[in-house]
Amino acid sequence: MKRSSKLAIAIAAALGIGATVAVFAQPVGMGGGMRHGMMHGMGPAMMRGAMAGGMHDDAFRADMGLVHEMLDSHERIARKVSNLPNGIRTVTEADDPQVAATLKAHVASMAKRLEEGREFNLFSPTIPILFENRDKIRTAIEYTAKGVVFTQTSGDAKVVAALQEHAVEVSELARDGMAAMMRAAQAAASAPSPYAGEQQRGIKALSAKDVQDLLAGRGMGLAKSAELNRYPGPAHVLELSDKLGLSAQQKASTKSVFDAMEARARALGKSLVEREAELDRLFASREVSRTTLESSLAEISKLQGELRRVHLEAHLAQTDILTAAQVASYVELRGYGGAGHSGGHRH
Ligand code: HEM
Repeated sequence: MKRSSKLAIAIAAALGIGATVAVFAQPVGMGGGMRHGMMHGMGPAMMRGAMAGGMHDDAFRADMGLVHEMLDSHERIARKVSNLPNGIRTVTEADDPQVAATLKAHVASMAKRLEEGREFNLFSPTIPILFENRDKIRTAIEYTAKGVVFTQTSGDAKVVAALQEHAVEVSELARDGMAAMMRAAQAAASAPSPYAGEQQRGIKALSAKDVQDLLAGRGMGLAKSAELNRYPGPAHVLELSDKLGLSAQQKASTKSVFDAMEARARALGKSLVEREAELDRLFASREVSRTTLESSLAEISKLQGELRRVHLEAHLAQTDILTAAQVASYVELRGYGGAGHSGGHRH
């Protein structure tokens, strides 16, 4: 099957429509029943895009319906984008009241999805960045008689760039409709593997920073189950010791929890790097077999488990050292307050 027809089918499938299948499929000679097995041949990036948000959920289908309507009536949508130093301000409008209503519904739903972290995407490279950084984005929406004035800002330069790039993507969709969608799908399908370049690494599975962190006994997010559930960690407690009002005794106990954790984590980290290097060597030399792989992975998993335990246990020990009030202020100081909502939004 030609790549263009696969793309058309993937898009049509995601939009949940038969009409588009016909439009794109006829010229390349595809008959009915083509939606069967429609995901075959899609590249990983496309699959990721098409599946993000869950293909089978009602909200997803409703949102796809709105997108479909906007793509169909793109010629009636006018759009102006201004880049701000820290974001974007866009005006998107339509004289046709039905199109204007669809546009408003789309924007309202997307803003809610962003706030709640329910990603919705097909082929955009910028939408994943926006959803990953949603706590760094401020959104203000003003509905006009004919559409929407949409302002988004961020203090993070990378996020600002993604906001501005996404605004360009939306402008292209509004200008070219389904043709822009096809271009985006093609670009997503031909994007290089996210691992490209990593074949140069000494140990393919670990970045230079991973190796440094392991050798230095750093946390590497291994204690998130504790840290984000109100069990403070010794390294950050020491950093915040003044603000938390630690007594001399508490400080000394924290330091000894930290030192013990770090010494153990360094030793385990060193063994882990060595075992990963060995696994890499097995593959690089093509000496690997099912048996050597099994024993290598058993050792690696054991070390990973122990390393995680060392970090998590340090949080357990640390929590015993602190008062409930100190734990509460740690949670605030680390920015974990306001659990259950994403914060930082203003709609
Ligand atoms: C003709 C087609 C489309 C139009 C006119 C349109 C319009 C808009 C507008 C006006 C915004 C507010 C941001 C801005 O103005 O730059 C927006 C945001 C968004 N759109 Fe669309 N859109 C279209 C297609 C799509 C498609 C195909 C998807 C994904 C499948 C999508 C997903 C999103 C998402 C996730 C946001 C939220 C981004 C954020 O809050 O930063 N849109 N869209």
